[in-house]
Amino acid sequence: MRNSSECRNPNPNLWAFSLVILLLGVSPITGRIHRKGDDTSPRIGWSIFKEEGEEIARPVNRQRVRPLGLNNGLGLTPPMGWNSWNFFGCNINETVIFETASALVYTGLADVGYNYVNLDDCWAERERDEDGNLLPRRLTFPSGIKALADHVHALGLKLGIYSDAGFYTCEKQPGSLGYEIQDARTFASWEVDYLKYDNCFNDGSKPETRYPVMRNALNATGRPIFYSICEWGQDDPATWAKPVGNTWRTTGDIVDKWSSMVKLADKNDKWADYAGPGGWNDPDMLEVGNGGMTVEEYRCHFSVWALMKAPLLIGCDVRDLKPEILGILSNEEVIGVNQDPLGVQGRRVKKGLWLRRNQQVWSGPLSGNRTVVLLWNRGLFGAHIKATWADLGLTSGTPVIVRDLWKHETWEGNSVDEIEARVDGRSSEMFILTPQASSSLPSRVKQGFQDNEPDSCAKHFNIILDRSLDNRTSLLGKGLYSFYSM
Ligand code: GAL
Repeated sequence: MRNSSECRNPNPNLWAFSLVILLLGVSPITGRIHRKGDDTSPRIGWSIFKEEGEEIARPVNRQRVRPLGLNNGLGLTPPMGWNSWNFFGCNINETVIFETASALVYTGLADVGYNYVNLDDCWAERERDEDGNLLPRRLTFPSGIKALADHVHALGLKLGIYSDAGFYTCEKQPGSLGYEIQDARTFASWEVDYLKYDNCFNDGSKPETRYPVMRNALNATGRPIFYSICEWGQDDPATWAKPVGNTWRTTGDIVDKWSSMVKLADKNDKWADYAGPGGWNDPDMLEVGNGGMTVEEYRCHFSVWALMKAPLLIGCDVRDLKPEILGILSNEEVIGVNQDPLGVQGRRVKKGLWLRRNQQVWSGPLSGNRTVVLLWNRGLFGAHIKATWADLGLTSGTPVIVRDLWKHETWEGNSVDEIEARVDGRSSEMFILTPQASSSLPSRVKQGFQDNEPDSCAKHFNIILDRSLDNRTSLLGKGLYSFYSM
């Protein structure tokens, strides 16, 4: 990156822009947008930049002022795997875990990315040993956790474990509060790869103070252990957990029902700006395959979780999968959305009015200048749902190739203004749009970019359309540009 004075734009138009920007409290040189009292919050903006000669523009919830992440090298994409809780609850034992690990392999789920095998509550004895160490339940885990880890590792998978930032876990096994260092060492000595850290029976202190203690203890072991914060979204963890954990729950527990899944998706959506490589919003584990929703409803559940960059932790019995459920869980095109290296959480971009409020468009940017779109009908009756390029942050007229991620088909010809599909009740259609060369830039922003063009430093700048609102379309209409060096 060059320093900003080297790259001052000679174009006089800049000063016109700068004036407007200054009036709005934006410094034109650094592009920093000063918002009172909220200096570290992420910002949404239009980001336009040149990458190897290619112009790129898309709505980005780019976190320009991002707090430092946990930096344990884990969670660069959302975690994928399996967790025992949603199906088994407390009825777990080592046979179930051994068989589940094998099933992940022979079903092919491991091959498409599900690599964590995570124990939830109820793996430990109710008392610690005389030295204060946690003990695996003798009756149900007689071989011990290290043996489990060895088995899982031999299959090329990873083992996750569960504890609690309180005196007990929710099912009354010992919690780790006050035992963080000792328990982290125990987990590392068992070669555990992932810790889900719950919030039951805590001492009433803030999660912001309790959760970093275990983070430090895990880091101190020297073993990379994925850290999954589970304080149920109580203290808005998205706002503080990025430097603490790799994921943070944004919601209470999921129930295997449509209404629960929809409610959690909406709650999680609120925090979209805060997710990114290394730290993800977690609206809880998948219920796909547990029987409480129809296949189409599970397809919605899986699609929206993938689009929101949620952890894809299977919550059913993978030893006994119906083909249609396996088909959902192993759809590699949808998984590809979740695991996209750009790591931007997709969000709801449009919701119909009144009676049409259940007709929604969810969308987000993907690497390679692509956009994922979910036409989601939450109502009971079929409807036509349309997403225009303006809804999605594309310029009208941009030719786009449309790929249907569930039918595994590419639409014939290019779409240039909108896509529309008939979507059955409680169902969804999911697409990836790939703009074809020409102009995918919003026209006014493109103008701004061209103004900047004579300056050879242009490629070192992002031009970000300021926002004081969340509505990207109206922002685009306002046409305020600020210059921001990355
Ligand atoms: C809850 C948690 C669930 C599950 C359960 C186990 O607090 O949200 O996901 O872990 O505890 O007792």
